[in-house]
Amino acid sequence: MAGNVTRVAALGDLHCTKTSHGVFQPLFAKAAEAAEVVLIAGDLTDYGLPEEARVLAKELSGIRVPVAAVLGNHDLESGKGDEVRQILTDAGIVVLDGEVCEMHGIGIAGAKGFGGGFGKHALGPWGETIIKQFVREAVDEALKFEAALARLRTKQIIGLLHYSPVQQTVDGEPLEIYPFLGSSRLEEPIDRYPVSLVVHGHAHRGQLQGATKTGVPVYNVSLPLLSRSFADRPPFRVFDIPSDTETTCEPAAIPFAASPGRGRRATDAVAS
Ligand SMILES: [Fe+2]
Ligand SMILES: [Fe+2]
Repeated sequence: MAGNVTRVAALGDLHCTKTSHGVFQPLFAKAAEAAEVVLIAGDLTDYGLPEEARVLAKELSGIRVPVAAVLGNHDLESGKGDEVRQILTDAGIVVLDGEVCEMHGIGIAGAKGFGGGFGKHALGPWGETIIKQFVREAVDEALKFEAALARLRTKQIIGLLHYSPVQQTVDGEPLEIYPFLGSSRLEEPIDRYPVSLVVHGHAHRGQLQGATKTGVPVYNVSLPLLSRSFADRPPFRVFDIPSDTETTCEPAAIPFAASPGRGRRATDAVAS
């Protein structure tokens, strides 16, 4: 921590496989050197297999800074999301699914999110039952995310998602799959709370940065995108966040105290 600033590293879409031994440990070591907090924006594993989660847990075992994560769609592929989550939790990673934690005084609200599309072209709950179920899932994830944001009373709040809340950071992907990359329903709660910034993954071919309607910065920290964009440095972003209090990295039951309004802006400092 430099003065009252905490450096937060963020990356996503690790897609750890059973044969990824030794692949991520050097990356996490560099992230922990560059930052006091590490955030992982989903798709931690490739097929959502417990064996993959165990490999990742081992890769993360030497990291000496608090790590918070959300699961991604790949982590649910094998129907073993609970087991994947438990393995990562046992390894000391705070896995958020509509929950919050506080690290170095920074509040982190995490949820996976879901698809549905953006703006006026977003899918509505109309017609076939399966379409209504799809939209229901998007609404439920947005409500879960909003409930988490509402529980935080820290001055600095980071939103941690897998799916994108805005279209800008998925631009570059094939148009046909936009509805499966994120949902504007996730943007609405961000603009109702004093969120400093949001990070997400999932759109491997998207854009690095966008913003919500009210200007909250949104960063796509998908590892393939970062690797392509910053070929000369490790694939994670680092953000300078003014910090307020001591670290408490357990999921915290923080009483409702959030008030709407614009938050402080963090600076995207480096990605060294
Ligand atoms: Fe991914
Ligand atoms: Fe994904």
